[in-house]
Amino acid sequence: MNAARVDVAADTRPAFSRYARLHGDTPRARAVILAPERVYELDAIGQVVLTLCDGGRTLREIAADLSRTYTAPVEVIERDVANLLQGLFDKRILRDGPDPNPAPARRVRVYPRFDGGPTGLLAELTHRCPLQCPYCSNPLELERANVEMPSAKWAELFHEAAALGVLQLHLSGGEPTARTDLEAIAQAAVEAGLYTNLITAGVLLDGERLDRLAAVGLDHVQLSIQDVDPESADRISAYRGGLAKKRRTAERARALGLGLTINAPIHRQNIDRLPAIIDFAAEVGAQRIEIANVQFYAWAEKNRAALIPPREKYEAATRIVEDAKARYGGVMTFDFVASDHYASYPKACVGGWGRSMLVVTPSGRVLPCHAAQTLPGLTFETFGDRPLAEIWRNGAAFEAFRGEAWMKEPCRSCERRGLDFGGCRCQAFWVTADPAATDPTCRFSAAHAAFAAAAEAQSQAPAPDFVYRRMRA
Ligand code: SF4
Ligand code: FES
Repeated sequence: MNAARVDVAADTRPAFSRYARLHGDTPRARAVILAPERVYELDAIGQVVLTLCDGGRTLREIAADLSRTYTAPVEVIERDVANLLQGLFDKRILRDGPDPNPAPARRVRVYPRFDGGPTGLLAELTHRCPLQCPYCSNPLELERANVEMPSAKWAELFHEAAALGVLQLHLSGGEPTARTDLEAIAQAAVEAGLYTNLITAGVLLDGERLDRLAAVGLDHVQLSIQDVDPESADRISAYRGGLAKKRRTAERARALGLGLTINAPIHRQNIDRLPAIIDFAAEVGAQRIEIANVQFYAWAEKNRAALIPPREKYEAATRIVEDAKARYGGVMTFDFVASDHYASYPKACVGGWGRSMLVVTPSGRVLPCHAAQTLPGLTFETFGDRPLAEIWRNGAAFEAFRGEAWMKEPCRSCERRGLDFGGCRCQAFWVTADPAATDPTCRFSAAHAAFAAAAEAQSQAPAPDFVYRRMRA
């Protein structure tokens, strides 16, 4: 099912793939492209060009049309439009000719202006999960099925979130397909106008269920894999036969025209098979692969010694990814999440606290990040107690680390503070016992050297057995 790169030419008939579209981001009064887990802002020219990309007109016809409108030389316009479109073809946002699997028609939603809202919502629909991965990022205290919000409540939440400017919705868990009302939840998300991503392990999804989700307008599936060696995959997830089910889910998703990302957490027990993991993603037709060095949040912390790879293997993995990016250019895009222990600077965790993302737990608790409940002294509100806009604007937990006033040195005067916002508050607390400290990933943190050295020492010792993630009886 390997796709091939499209070289844009005069007779190419550009059209959006089923899983990408133009969107009026009315709370921010702008036009964007929505694509798998990405939002691309458009200028006025880009918007005009893409409106003409209907899969019927050729590039030459589009350029001629624009040349008449703007009285500019057609050759110049054709060259500029080809450059613009090639970038979108290489991300597989555009394709040559109309998508044979058109997305169902959706109502255009117009929300009033709202400044400073989030763009992403992680909806943890349930903490139930058939897998027991040792690097699970769900909280240590899982919420049980009897406290999960019903689909009607999620529908209300989605409308309030869209009015805040949320564009990307991640239906997550646990395993979201454990919910029997997932189709109704996905439909409510689509009706709110959200780009709807399903984050799944893919082992509970039969073809018919995926058909129903596609029919209500699901946009994209992010499928996690543990390994491409079946025995190793079974051992990591403590679930038998998962890999074959995941392959079927991936292939069905692509046959339906859904966007597909393969999410591959990488660690010392599968890092040697990284090239085969990348090839697996290409074979099943994914447009994106996320290669995420395991982050030691929540449960993963218990398994650090079993998961942390030696530095030289981590560095070899970064080179493997660079080579693969060149090999799969125009076929698959790559997201590489660096190792916190071996990097020099931290990531902008959740895009900066209270800046672009919110998380809602199965019972409706609204959080600035998925691990925020591990931090001391924060209070969290529940959806329905107050409007979501108020919780976002002035909820105490969101205000705690928003902006820069909470920062201490060295972050307070660092020129990178507007890029990474001081890194991860949760990791800072776990390592230094101070949630306002600099993330120990950062080379300027006083804790950095010990943080990196401890990981290297663990990676050289024999790996202990996994401590599996199980919901308490
Ligand atoms: Fe980022 Fe703070 Fe490190 Fe500067 S000192 S790079 S702001 S974490
Ligand atoms: Fe909480 Fe990074 S996980 S801020």
